[in-house]
Amino acid sequence: MQSTKLNAQITAVGMYVPEKVLDNKYFEEIVETNDEWIVSRTGIKERRKMENGATSDMAAFAILDLLKTTSVKAEEIDVIIVATVTPDMFFPATACLVQDKIGAKNAWGFDLSAACSGFLFALQTGAALIESGRYKKVIVVGSDKMTAISDYTDRNTCILFGDAASAILLEPTEDLSTGLIDTLLFTDGSGKDALNMKGGGSLNPSSHETVDNKMHYIYQDGKAVFKVAVKGMADISYEVMKKNNLDSDDVAYLVPHQANLRIIDATANRMGISKDKVMINIHKYGNTTAATIPLCLTEYYRAGKIKKGDNLILAAFGAGYTWGAAYLKWSID
Ligand code: UT7
Repeated sequence: MQSTKLNAQITAVGMYVPEKVLDNKYFEEIVETNDEWIVSRTGIKERRKMENGATSDMAAFAILDLLKTTSVKAEEIDVIIVATVTPDMFFPATACLVQDKIGAKNAWGFDLSAACSGFLFALQTGAALIESGRYKKVIVVGSDKMTAISDYTDRNTCILFGDAASAILLEPTEDLSTGLIDTLLFTDGSGKDALNMKGGGSLNPSSHETVDNKMHYIYQDGKAVFKVAVKGMADISYEVMKKNNLDSDDVAYLVPHQANLRIIDATANRMGISKDKVMINIHKYGNTTAATIPLCLTEYYRAGKIKKGDNLILAAFGAGYTWGAAYLKWSID
C-alpha cells in the first residue's frame, strides 16, 4: 500500500522570557566595557536572566504558553524534543522533566545538542518524525539558561548571552507546498576548539581543577567564530533560497540566529534582502542559543507581521561547528 506523503507544518507557537533584565549598564559596573562597544559590536542592549528555575522550567512555560493558543491538549503530544546546551542535569534528559511539568503523559522525548543550530536540527528531526506518518503532534522547544554557564568576569563572553525558551507544535499536512519544505544542515567538528564548555564531561570530569580553571563556563574565540559564522550563515541562506528557486522578492523574512547584528546584516546582504525583512530581537534578549529563532517567529507572528503562505528562510551558525538553513512556508492564519 502506498502511504500518503506528508509535510510537517507549524500549527502553534509559544515563548517564555524571564522577567529579570540585565542591561548594558549592568555590565559596565562589573567588567571593563561600555554600552557603545556592546551595541556597535553586537547589537545587544539587554538580555534576560532566569533567577529561580532551570532550562526545563523555561521550556515548560513556553509550551504551556503555546498550549493556551491551540485546542491540542498536553496529553495529545506524541514527542517532545528539547534543543539545549544547558540541560538541567546530564541525565535524565531535560525532555523528561518538561514532559512531567506540562503533564504530557503520553509523550516520549529527548534532548538534542547542537548549540546555536539546535532549533534547526531539532526542527528537521521533528519534521522527519511527522513525515514518517508515525507521529502527529511533535513539540520542538529551544531552551537555554546561558547565564548558568557565563563567566561574569569575562567581558568577551558575559555580555553576549541571555536566557529564554520558545516552542513550536509540528503537525502533518498533505499539502506538500506548505510547512517545512527544505533544510540544509552541516557539522564540522574541527571547530570544537573555538567555542565550547570543556568541564564536567567525560573528557574533563568535574574536579577542583576544572573549577579553578573556569572550565564550566563558555569559552569562545570570538574573532575566529565570527569569521566562519559570517561566511557560513550567509552562504547557507543564499544556497537554500536558490535551491528552492526563490528570489529575494519571494522571501517574506529572513529569520536568523541572533548572535551578532553584523553577522545578520552580512547574511541579509548576501541574500539581497532589505533590513525590514529581517527578524531581529537581539537588542532585547542577546544570544539565547537554541531559543533565538522560535522566539523571533513567536514575537513576529503575535505582532501580526507574518501571514499564512509567507516564505521564511531560517538560518543559524553555532558551536561544533554546526550550521544550517531551512525554507519554511508559514501555515498559521
Ligand atoms: O552564537 C554562536 C556563534 N557565535 C557567534 O556567532 C559569535 C561570533 N563572534 C562575535 O560575535 C564577535 O567576535 C564578538 C562580539 C564576540 C567580539 O567582537 P569583535 O569585533 O570580534 O571583537 P574582538 O574579539 O576582536 O575584540 C576587539 C577588542 C579587543 O581588544 P584589543 O585586543 O583590540 O585591545 C577585546 O579585548 O575589543 C575588546 N573587547 C571588549 N571591549 C569592551 C572584547 N570584549 C569587550 C567588551 N567591551 N565586552
